[in-house]
Amino acid sequence: MSQQPLTIALSKGRILDDTLPLFEEAGIVPAEDIKKSRKLIFDTNHDHIKLVVIRATDVPTYVQYGAADIGVAGKDVLMEADSTGLYEPLDLNIATCRLMTAALKGAPEPTGRIKVASKFVGVTKRYFAEQGKQADIIKLYGGMELAPIMGLADLIVDIVDTGNTLRANGLEERDLIAPISSRLVVGKAAMKMKHRQIQPIIDKLAQAVDRRR
Ligand code: ATP
Ligand code: PRP
Repeated sequence: MSQQPLTIALSKGRILDDTLPLFEEAGIVPAEDIKKSRKLIFDTNHDHIKLVVIRATDVPTYVQYGAADIGVAGKDVLMEADSTGLYEPLDLNIATCRLMTAALKGAPEPTGRIKVASKFVGVTKRYFAEQGKQADIIKLYGGMELAPIMGLADLIVDIVDTGNTLRANGLEERDLIAPISSRLVVGKAAMKMKHRQIQPIIDKLAQAVDRRR
């Protein structure tokens, strides 16, 4: 029986480096070297499966609107996105890191109205509201570590892995907001319409994740 076409949206950058070996272990291999190409759409060893490689923050959007059926995205991105149209059936356990607050090393715990710089504005707003703390959120697009040094913010909310970036800039970890890893997401409509194609992919990836544990 012929298979319905399936599109999988992969996050480019750091997550892609971890995704490709995992997909290979699950039997999905791009027809050419994605990292050596400027193309955005790739055939695979399965006639009906295509990969699209896009910015991490765009993955939930493509899957939500049904332009892609399946996606791979960091939990940080998913927490920040509107994910009402998405299922999150599998933790791929790749690109693991932590979403943390951080401050200048030794700085006293800020009180009163706190200035917090982050690119994760929605998550940051929710987190401080849950803590019952008043916070002014300052949106940045990168290099968050600079904000406390320059007096722009008291705290930052950012990804921490080894802690090297914080240390190199005289900052320290404060509170854990959430452990982060990349997740498989599936559009709710796609799950309904293409369940027969999608479930085996989830199963194969789940087995590959389990084999690594
Ligand atoms: P963009 O290029 O779209 O602005 P970016 O620069 O944040 O995004 P990457 O650095 O490739 O892109 O990170 C993408 C994802 O990888 C993050 O959303 C997070 O889930 C994960 N990630 C980020 N930093 C780390 C890290 N230091 N260690 C492990 N995973 C990380
Ligand atoms: C990410 C994150 C931190 C750093 C943390 O930045 O924003 O700056 O990794 O990792 P570490 O704890 O191992 O040092 P990235 O390298 O993705 O650069 P970016 O500033 O472009 O996001």
